[in-house]
Amino acid sequence: MLIKTPFPHEPLPSEITPHGVYLNRRTALAGLGLAAASPLALAQGTPGGGKLPKLPGTRSAVAGAMVLDKPTSYTDATSYNNFYEFGTDKSDPAAYAHTLKTRPWTVSVEGECAKPMRFDIEALLKLAPMEERIYRLRCVEGWSMVIPWVGYSLAEVIKKVEPTSKAKYVEFTSLADKSQMPGVRSGVLDWPYVEGLRIDEAMHPLAMLVFGMYGEVLPNQNGAPLRLALPWKYGFKSAKSIVKIRLVEKEPTSSWTKAAQQEYGFYSNVNPNVPHPRWSQASERRIGEDGLFAKKRPTLMFNGYEAQVGQLYAGMDLKKNY
Ligand code: MTE
Repeated sequence: MLIKTPFPHEPLPSEITPHGVYLNRRTALAGLGLAAASPLALAQGTPGGGKLPKLPGTRSAVAGAMVLDKPTSYTDATSYNNFYEFGTDKSDPAAYAHTLKTRPWTVSVEGECAKPMRFDIEALLKLAPMEERIYRLRCVEGWSMVIPWVGYSLAEVIKKVEPTSKAKYVEFTSLADKSQMPGVRSGVLDWPYVEGLRIDEAMHPLAMLVFGMYGEVLPNQNGAPLRLALPWKYGFKSAKSIVKIRLVEKEPTSSWTKAAQQEYGFYSNVNPNVPHPRWSQASERRIGEDGLFAKKRPTLMFNGYEAQVGQLYAGMDLKKNY
């Protein structure tokens, strides 16, 4: 995501991790049409690293929440990251995010609402039943992953504060603490990391507040203790380590839009027909599908979630509203 650096084409060491050890029982069963019927698959979920506390979720019933693509290996998903508060290299977050303190942690939900609240992370963990959802994640840089997240719909939290009619947008702010996050000392972005959604996007059941992945709590490098997962949008919209959710009347300016408006628009819906000024968005490299003969995959409109979210953008010029 660096502003002026083209995406490197050579595979990184983290991209050539062998997959021999990784077996996804659920996906294997799903391929046979057995996932929904198998109590074993439900109990086991998708295996994580085994070092963090467990955070199980029940299989989500939200339409579109369980893609059948094979999940990315836990090793790849936790070692090839974008989290600029810990550096700009893909390996920096895994190397440096151990300094992030995820307890105590509070999230204030405020702005245009009748009941602003400050939630302790423990209260948020209990606010709604935890679900496992297998989402595609498409980064604007041209790579993608498939992640089994654990959490619930963002709407659950927003409803609690009772938005007023002036709440047209939602702004998300990540933690920016120089003492815990070495990247915040650099000027690569205007900190804190800020992202935004239209209120109807934020209330869509697929917009997810995430606390875990692979049946365990989120590793720090993936945005602990809570982050967003917005599967139909480019990955940078899914802010990590959130401390504030603000309901607002005007369209918020996200950090990436501030850095390069012509490159990163407010909507940033995955769209193979609208190229990024420096990269085509027509295809993608699925992390883990390596090798000389590995084919790129065609990128799908709204990342494959058009049936669920297309209606949110009916009548809009998606080239203009990129
Ligand atoms: N959130 C914060 N606070 N800081 C970041 O640098 N990077 C974004 C997004 N959320 C980022 C962030 C980008 S560019 C992507 S692609 C995803 O997080 C990556 O999520 P992952 O590392 O869990 O795959």
